[in-house]
Amino acid sequence: MGRLAGATLRAGRRGAACLPLVLALVACDAHGPDSGTTAAASASGATASGLLLPVAGSAASGGQTRAEVYASVRKMTLVGKQLFFDPSLSGSGKLSCASCHSPEHAFTPPNSLQVQLGGGDMRQPGFRAVPTLKYLQSVPAFSEHFHDSEDEGDESVDAGPTGGLTWDGRVDRGSDQARIPLLSTFEMSSTPQKVAAAVKASPYAAAFRDAFGAQIFDSDDATFKAVLQALETFEQTPETFYPYTSKYDAYLAGKTQLTAAESRGLQLFNDEKKGNCASCHLSERARDGSPPQFSDFGLIAIGVPRNRTLAVNRDPRFYDLGACGPERKDLQGRDEFCGIFRTPTLRNVALKKRFFHNGLYSSLDEVVRFYVERDTNPEKFYPVSKNGVVQKFDDLPKRYWSNLNTDPPFDRKRGDAPALDEAEIKDVVAFLNTLTDGYRPPVR
Ligand code: HEC
Ligand code: HEC
Repeated sequence: MGRLAGATLRAGRRGAACLPLVLALVACDAHGPDSGTTAAASASGATASGLLLPVAGSAASGGQTRAEVYASVRKMTLVGKQLFFDPSLSGSGKLSCASCHSPEHAFTPPNSLQVQLGGGDMRQPGFRAVPTLKYLQSVPAFSEHFHDSEDEGDESVDAGPTGGLTWDGRVDRGSDQARIPLLSTFEMSSTPQKVAAAVKASPYAAAFRDAFGAQIFDSDDATFKAVLQALETFEQTPETFYPYTSKYDAYLAGKTQLTAAESRGLQLFNDEKKGNCASCHLSERARDGSPPQFSDFGLIAIGVPRNRTLAVNRDPRFYDLGACGPERKDLQGRDEFCGIFRTPTLRNVALKKRFFHNGLYSSLDEVVRFYVERDTNPEKFYPVSKNGVVQKFDDLPKRYWSNLNTDPPFDRKRGDAPALDEAEIKDVVAFLNTLTDGYRPPVR
């Protein structure tokens, strides 16, 4: 058994506790667009619980009325949006957050490159595919042993490593995350000083000062922290980042019907003996009525094949082992964390052009086929040596294979019938296409 918890335990998991992202007021809100009251109710808690970053001279510190908190969030959101689209923050002057996280593509890349290029010369390849920035508001903070209070009332169930941002869960807050691409030598390749200078010279410098206080530009460090905070705040704009406007949401609300194929796909997605997808990619409303996030945020090893076209992988000794490194440092040497990556949400997945942490696959068909034929027909996915031996799990050293998940559909062996046949794979893909935001129900 790879994962700490088995299928049935995981299946019991519904929505998770919220990540202590910036503002209680806009975060932790899984209830969709009509949840103004929830937001308002927690507005006063935003400062009380000290969730705001302590930015020097920030307008948003201590003793504010609810109206003042709202006004300050609104200002930070507007500034955060400007920052998000501003290439002048980068070392090359060419790359903004939006270059890799394009709003038209659910905040994933507009191109179909496996990994994006960045750095000062715009030629440095990353080694992970770009995840969506939508529906991150309910990712819980990383924990090695996740106990979900929603879990059928049984908090003693250990669901294993869960949560955190990025594929390996190495940071908990949007602000800490934003630091990564800004400073990464293969992404925006900037420095806090350059970022501060760019903001000072930007058309939104006055708005920035208005949001963070007249003295904010006195220190580059304070300016940089404020930038991170503004980006985090922008990423929590509900109507942009978690609108819940997919066809599936309309279906759950009784406002539309699924086609026959979509409906069959949903069944197969949920069926524990078929796709069993919903055991990790939760598809039902939580007990408190909040919409499904299509992830339980667990970190799981599913043995994605090595992507041999990535520059890093030219070195046969290099392995991206997810939570145990090399990007993530705190769990290095902890074998049980090797090969695990955070289960991504499947909302808007049809807008993505590259799938899995290494960007190996370019269609949902291929992804679903990998799930159901990985063990029955491994030769379709992994290299086969001259003597006909399939080099299964070629991107995970053998000593970590015990970490691999063995729940259905990963419970088969060579020669067994795949969990889904070709027609069923198509149905599941049809269902995945109902998870794209922006659906308008037919007018009757
Ligand atoms: C060169 C492309 C690129 C740029 C530019 C970029 N990102 Fe990303 N982003 C990525 C990749 C790749 C990951 C996954 C990183 C990992 O797992 O190590 C990621 C992950 C994230 C995540 C975590 C998503 C999750 O599922 O946990 C957030 C949030 C994010 N980026 C925000 C930003 C912000 C804000 C900026 C601008 C300051 C930015 N990104 C700029 C490529 C990029
Ligand atoms: C045991 C948990 C688990 C089960 C069961 C599971 N998934 Fe996943 N899913 C994951 C994890 C973990 C990843 C990321 C793996 C990686 O990149 O290394 C993932 C990634 C994906 C992706 C790629 C998303 C992206 O943004 O790149 C798709 C699509 C997907 N799963 C669909 C499905 C479907 C369809 C099923 C059922 C046939 C399924 N999953 C079953 C855990 C699971």
